[in-house]
Amino acid sequence: MPNDLSPIDKAKFVAAKKATEYVKTGMKVGLGTGSTAAWLVQCLGELVRDEGLRIQGVPTSTRTAQLAREVGIEVISLDEAKWLDLTIDGADEYDGNLNLIKGGGGALLQEKIVATASDQMIVIADISKQVETLGAFPLPVEVIPFGWKTTQTLIEETLIGLDVLGQTTSLRMNGDAPFVTDEGNHILDLHLNRILSLIHI
Ligand code: A5P
Repeated sequence: MPNDLSPIDKAKFVAAKKATEYVKTGMKVGLGTGSTAAWLVQCLGELVRDEGLRIQGVPTSTRTAQLAREVGIEVISLDEAKWLDLTIDGADEYDGNLNLIKGGGGALLQEKIVATASDQMIVIADISKQVETLGAFPLPVEVIPFGWKTTQTLIEETLIGLDVLGQTTSLRMNGDAPFVTDEGNHILDLHLNRILSLIHI
């Protein structure tokens, strides 16, 4: 483990390192996005460089693709891989039943497609992500730019009928401009506060 890590980074590192035990030579591995997933990519890179691990990685964002290449992991597209043995990714919140909110980093569309195309998924998250009820972390929804305000209105109307404590939504910004995902889309953050019955989006 690198020296001088904060307690949270230590926890992220330990979770990421543990997950590498499930990665075997020859596997096609989905590589998640975010600070915890970045530790995973670094740990895998070390195994590739120092221990001869041979894997092909399918990144879930341009950020992860760049890091994976930097640490020496062979990067292929999901179309080249077609199907994956395993995906490892972080999460923003998890509850006692291991329900999750994901996508806080804005890479949720690719993350969900890659995870769906995998035999197995391992979620790595430190204790700071554990909650009794999901929803304190805004639930991200990726929307295409065309007509996003209409989509927002429709989502807000839908929220009225759901078992959630908050019903406001906001367009995620990057400075003065809307945040743009790798797919050229925007993110609507749903401020639900508490999700009292589950929503699958
Ligand atoms: C990226 O879009 C997310 O799904 C991340 O996996 C999630 O936000 C967790 O990120 P951190 O590991 O940085 O907390």
